[in-house]
Amino acid sequence: MIGRLNHVAIAVSDLEAATATYRDTLGAEVSEAVDQPDHGVVTVFITLPNTKIELLAPLGDDSPIAKFLERNPAGGIHHVCYEVDDIKLASDKLKKEGARVLGGGEPKIGAHGKPVLFLHPKDFCGTLVELEEA
Ligand code: CO
Repeated sequence: MIGRLNHVAIAVSDLEAATATYRDTLGAEVSEAVDQPDHGVVTVFITLPNTKIELLAPLGDDSPIAKFLERNPAGGIHHVCYEVDDIKLASDKLKKEGARVLGGGEPKIGAHGKPVLFLHPKDFCGTLVELEEA
């Protein structure tokens, strides 16, 4: 069911410093920072030849990544995003399998303007999984 790795997301406290690390130290192509008020984060995308890295920093007081950064003050891998052909079908199948689809299983529009869903880390090897309709 899952297809390509769309991106790996890394949560950081200092988005400017993280962007500079990827741009200057690692020599990667980085995007501008974009506020995602619906998701409570600011994102920078790093384009690699075969996938992307999504840098996430908190936006606002009740950002969903605030707790993660409290536990991981230096930052860390927050989620992986896999592509699926049909997000509704994927959601139905996963629920049937007993997996916890966050947000009641209703897709939201993600950072790329495409429908996304998140799956509970306890059901997927301790890793928060994002599915994005390709
Ligand atoms: Co993501």
